[in-house]
Amino acid sequence: MERIDKIISSQSNFSRKEVKQMILRKRVTVDGQIVDKYDIKIDEKEKIIAIDGQAINLKKNIYLILNKPRGYISATEDKSQKTVLELVPEEFKKRELFPAGRLDKDTTGLMLITNDGVMAHNILSPRKHVKKIYEVVIDIDMSEEMINGFLEGVKLSDAECKSAELKITGRCSGTVTIREGRYHQIKRMFGCFGAKVIELNRIGIGNLILPEDLKLGECRELSHEELEKIQEKNSI
Ligand code: URA
Repeated sequence: MERIDKIISSQSNFSRKEVKQMILRKRVTVDGQIVDKYDIKIDEKEKIIAIDGQAINLKKNIYLILNKPRGYISATEDKSQKTVLELVPEEFKKRELFPAGRLDKDTTGLMLITNDGVMAHNILSPRKHVKKIYEVVIDIDMSEEMINGFLEGVKLSDAECKSAELKITGRCSGTVTIREGRYHQIKRMFGCFGAKVIELNRIGIGNLILPEDLKLGECRELSHEELEKIQEKNSI
């Protein structure tokens, strides 16, 4: 149970003050009954809230997909640097969103932003084995040694990586699939072979592939089908 003014303002673009005014002007109904007090508590899951007769869609969980550009950090706020949350459309800004997983400041591509901690955990936990696919460009030639080393599991200074796949797509370019998300993992994996990552772009999480029409910097709600793709059993 939560206060009605809080429910509406946290899940819409209206401020608490605006919501209070709407309620006092009898514009808000709960299950068809006009509400004239803004401090009544209701269970939002059980009730239909309407403003001017128009039911408002109170979706508890929000799932956004972002094509992250360079230069943004994977955080909700920062004093000096731009965060991915700044790319979220205004209508979702008040929904306590956070990035599900981190991409480095200079990494681009597919990022999920949500307020669903369970879903975030399910795709991030190494135990769930959800695959993350990256396009990568390095400063030296790709090699068989890297393919085999990745498959065996690269030993980093602080951890041993799980088996990963590297497909070579060009002299210095390839696609890497990992199933965990250690700090600077791909950069450090290539570092073990004396290579420096020059470009890193995430193109997939589970069975969800970065849509071609989602431009760099664009952020929108995931469709139902897209959300299912991340959670499919064969997402690993
Ligand atoms: N691995 C990295 O090194 N950086 C990223 O942003 C993601 C994976």
